[in-house]
Amino acid sequence: MVLVKGFSALGLILVLFWSQTGWAQSSPTQTEQTAELLATLFNAGRVVVERHQSLINDPRIGDKEFTPAVFEQLVLDEFLHQTHIDLKASPPSLPSPTKDLLVLLLHASKEVVAEAQFVINQRGIGYKNFIPATFGSQAARRFSNRSHVTMKQTTLNPRNLKNTPDAYEETMLKQLAKKPASTVPIVEWLDGGRLLRTMLPIYYAEDCLTCHGNPKGILDISGYPREGAQVGELAGAISIQIPADHR
Ligand code: HEC
Repeated sequence: MVLVKGFSALGLILVLFWSQTGWAQSSPTQTEQTAELLATLFNAGRVVVERHQSLINDPRIGDKEFTPAVFEQLVLDEFLHQTHIDLKASPPSLPSPTKDLLVLLLHASKEVVAEAQFVINQRGIGYKNFIPATFGSQAARRFSNRSHVTMKQTTLNPRNLKNTPDAYEETMLKQLAKKPASTVPIVEWLDGGRLLRTMLPIYYAEDCLTCHGNPKGILDISGYPREGAQVGELAGAISIQIPADHR
């Protein structure tokens, strides 16, 4: 009897410990929230790079002081602004499986900026190919390699073939392209509820058109033919996959 009681008490402690540390399996709603927050954090990194584009491209300045630490703080501020979540809050305001993934993505993004320091700080060179898309491709790849989540930027006719959409992404991009611009992601459970797929659409703004706009077919500064896009048109999407049965 004592033994049984002992076991159940241990069981209770374990359950409490699991729920505290987040070892327990995430609920579907929690997984959906994780995917949305990952897309937001990823986008925050792209936005911060975009806001510093003219500084990064300035051939007259050597040390640009766009360090990994500066970048991290700006991304955290942007994320806080968009979600009202402070990733540095203690105790954390998110369940730990969600927070751990966000921190992993933040580190991957920061590493990309760290490794690009030499390029960013080069004097005498204007365009350095360090732009939101190249930053994003690298950060998404690093993060995906280190977690059970798959993240990528994709579009119907990608410049970078690594961004080629799979069948699901292609269908969703075609649907998104027909609809008015929206900040609401597509969120769907596939495989009988075993795989969460989300797609957060990205649209072209004025700034993007120097490369993706008109005249269509003429090479832009990065050496790719311009797409002939207009402001507000669908540029692509951030695609995230999270398997449900991951522990
Ligand atoms: C300086 C030129 C330039 C500007 C400005 C630019 N892009 Fe791009 N974009 C590129 C290049 C180059 C790639 C391919 C990146 C790579 O090699 O991964 C790309 C890739 C992309 C992709 C990934 C899909 C693909 O084609 O590989 C998306 C989505 C995208 N850009 C959207 C945008 C949006 C939205 C903006 C404005 C906020 C923007 N771009 C501004 C040059 C640019």
